[in-house]
Amino acid sequence: MTHPLPPVPVPASGPVDVSPISMTPSADTDLDPIWKSVVPESRTRSNDIHLPISLAYAERLCAAHPDADALLVRVAILLHDTGWGRVDEDRIISEGFSGDWRRAEIRFEHERQGCLIAREVLPPLGFDPAFVEDVVAIIDGHDTRKEAKSLEDALVRDADRLWRFDHAGIALASGWFGMDPATYCDRLAAEIVPELLTEAAVAMATADLERSNALLKTTVLR
Ligand SMILES: [Fe+2]
Ligand SMILES: [Fe+2]
Repeated sequence: MTHPLPPVPVPASGPVDVSPISMTPSADTDLDPIWKSVVPESRTRSNDIHLPISLAYAERLCAAHPDADALLVRVAILLHDTGWGRVDEDRIISEGFSGDWRRAEIRFEHERQGCLIAREVLPPLGFDPAFVEDVVAIIDGHDTRKEAKSLEDALVRDADRLWRFDHAGIALASGWFGMDPATYCDRLAAEIVPELLTEAAVAMATADLERSNALLKTTVLR
């Protein structure tokens, strides 16, 4: 079930953990049947790195927002990018990460495919139709829609951005955008932090970016 999105940035009402994300991996096994259903889709566009790390961030955000439907957030973030596994792989980098990349047709296509995958894998695992539609509503437009529709949608969007602040995300995403790590870190601070919808996500991003800049020596390697 979704909850209305309060004015942004949404303040946290629970604990905010800003330690390195590797300290708190997603440990519960309840979503393992879903993971197993999307192994082939996890092999594209480093989804097998992006999705587990983003899930760990999503769970931290749910701890900071105990009012949110945590299962909905967790399932939506797990599945949100699986659609990349069913689009033309050659177009992912050429169209999905250059020019007006958020409006590229390939982006809409990965969202549409992700919705189909959610409708395919969730019902056989016992998820009811209303839950599946809530998941689909978040996946649909997760990159191309401007506004978050609910608190749960906002937490998924923030988790989808937060993984980039960890050094693993910087290593992968800087290459996708053809940037060196220092330039990419600058971009995270200038463009991605202002997009975050929750105060908890801003705190996590800021702490991660400080650690990643130090680790990757971005003050001298530029
Ligand atoms: Fe996406
Ligand atoms: Fe994503």
